[in-house]
Amino acid sequence: MQVAQGSTLLHFSRNGAYQPGAAELLVLERGEGPYVFDTAGRRYVDALSSLFCAQIGYSYGTEMARAAREQLERLAFNNLWGTAHPRALELGENLADLAPEGFGKVFFTSGGSESVEAAWKIARQYHLANGDQRRRKAIARDIAYHGVTLGALSLTGVERFKEPFGPPAIETRHVSNTNAFRSELSGVGLTRALLEELEQAVLEEGPETIAMIIAEPVQNAGGCLEPPPGYWAGLREVADRYGILLVADEVITGCGRLGQWFGVTRFGATPDLITIAKGLTSAYAPMGAVLVADRVAEPLYEDKRTLLHGITFAGHPLSAAIALKNIEIFARDGVLENVRAQESGLAERLESLRELPIVGDVRGAGFFWAVELVKDEKGGRFDADERERLLREFMPARLLEARLIARVDDRGDAVLQIAPPLISTDAVLDEIVDAMRAVLEDAGRFMGVESAVAASR
Ligand SMILES: Cc1ncc(COP(=O)(O)O)c(C=O)c1O
Repeated sequence: MQVAQGSTLLHFSRNGAYQPGAAELLVLERGEGPYVFDTAGRRYVDALSSLFCAQIGYSYGTEMARAAREQLERLAFNNLWGTAHPRALELGENLADLAPEGFGKVFFTSGGSESVEAAWKIARQYHLANGDQRRRKAIARDIAYHGVTLGALSLTGVERFKEPFGPPAIETRHVSNTNAFRSELSGVGLTRALLEELEQAVLEEGPETIAMIIAEPVQNAGGCLEPPPGYWAGLREVADRYGILLVADEVITGCGRLGQWFGVTRFGATPDLITIAKGLTSAYAPMGAVLVADRVAEPLYEDKRTLLHGITFAGHPLSAAIALKNIEIFARDGVLENVRAQESGLAERLESLRELPIVGDVRGAGFFWAVELVKDEKGGRFDADERERLLREFMPARLLEARLIARVDDRGDAVLQIAPPLISTDAVLDEIVDAMRAVLEDAGRFMGVESAVAASR
């Protein structure tokens, strides 16, 4: 059975492409472990965890439904506007326990963009309470994606997503990201250069005007850009030197994606705010949160001070019950342990793809990896027309044929990304990397990127 697009507008999609008689729309209707099934019964390995969300895969429906049912039968809804309900309070305590030392407060949201905007508003109110009215600007990084609602969009560093919508709501200075593959520098030399650039930006903007620096522990857009050594400690130092708050956007890297509840803890620095969403419930229900360091939350508790932010559905009892169950499942079924045990094996398998001439770089951490696609052995970049052919005409169809759900992206350079469910076994990871290899071999041939040896065969 093929289901048509009908009336539904697809997000970040060329909607015209799926009109009757054009491309077939992939409609997924069932899941099992790390696999999803379309309406024709075809099975795909979901190597993207449905946009970095499905941490525990798709086989916990019965258990999650039981938690949801118990909650819905008891209390379907209450908000957090001056009242509360037990599940949100319990979840807040659980997250504070899982968070780094000193993170005792949690503000719930319904998703990632809302978490980012809530972090901004909490940062602003912290500065206002301290008499720092002038701190109205943010620093973010090139190509980074922090969401698309208008506040979060200001922080996002992808110009073509922003330009149609006019001046940004938050004045934001973008600085270089941590792309080592496209830099002449690496290691501590790269760290030094990036931190000098950051500090220079702070000085040019006026340190007293900057409220926060926001960065992902491993930047997604651009293709899993890891921080060079000492980078996060350096961000912390710059932030402290100028009284700026440091926000780790962990909407992707949080909730086990890098093998910890909070990925930033891998990189030796403690931020002031942490944004999460996606994996908090393993996507069995929508939910996000901002974790707030005690010292940042402190002014919010002053006599007669109101927290000027609220979202009706944030901390919904149904989502909170599911998030609590998700946390329980993580501990019970060794989800983080699985990521840690498999990380080096996955890295090794992916590294083996470097022998394909179209693969220029392999990078990532935990269960979050990208392969950068290049047009020659010197790492040449595909131009816009070539990216159109490779990433939009060739790869999506070829990936589906290989029954592999992975992401092709060119917000930066051309990359193929994977983020398997955190419960994936050795065999599933093998299946993913084997399928990637087959697709990339064909992609190389399609684009005429072949090694001299292969071409002479
Ligand atoms: C790092 C980061 N921040 C924020 C967001 C926005 O999240 P949402 O799409 O849930 O609004 C995303 C979404 O992918 C993200 O990757």
